[in-house]
Amino acid sequence: MNEKPFNPGEQPPRGRFITFEGIDGAGKSSQIAATVELLRARGIEVDQTREPGGTPLGERLRELLLHEPMHLETEAMLMFAARREHLAARIEPALAAGRWVVCDRFSDASFAYQVGGRGLARDKFDALEAWVHPRLQPDLTLLFDLPPETAAARVASTGVDPDRFEREQRDFFERVREAYLERARQAPQRIRVVDADRAPELIRADIERIVRESLPT
Ligand code: TYD
Repeated sequence: MNEKPFNPGEQPPRGRFITFEGIDGAGKSSQIAATVELLRARGIEVDQTREPGGTPLGERLRELLLHEPMHLETEAMLMFAARREHLAARIEPALAAGRWVVCDRFSDASFAYQVGGRGLARDKFDALEAWVHPRLQPDLTLLFDLPPETAAARVASTGVDPDRFEREQRDFFERVREAYLERARQAPQRIRVVDADRAPELIRADIERIVRESLPT
């Protein structure tokens, strides 16, 4: 008999963790849906989620974060509090069970928005990240990059009331964009910059190629 003996303690292979990032209006949502569909078509079990949010508590924190004025450090700590809950209740169990997790935003957003946009001290960001996920990082991050004025026009065209972040001015989003790009330069293997100022089909084709190359199945 060549078959491997049954081992009840054997763990399934760990799932992969993919995140999507970019300034508001970058067009992530439809591309996230397409990516999840692509992975499922390849027979991969995928848990699609978002930050802030992804758990009942996280969604309540999201409501506060998007609508309630607060100090920038309160904002940073609540982002990471929601993330702690999300990791414990959802992301880590899914990965351990071999499922893939596709998440709309993660800690790169805290770096870009809270450090870059709001001016949170970088060592405070580092401390929160080291506390909440000392070892885990996404396996792949797709960073949607485009000029803030293009993104702002997209946000305005939705007709939905803007939230606390979407109401920020162009210079805020310039800083957020720069911080994202800086982070991408620090982790070029993990963070892949996608030119989001193009037709959706071209963006989709790029993502498909990057996912296949980076995370072969
Ligand atoms: P998002 O879900 O992309 O917004 P929408 O549903 O309107 O498309 O993100 C919500 C907002 O939260 C977004 O403006 C970015 C902000 N954010 C931070 O500032 N820091 C973070 O760590 C995260 C995860 C999000």
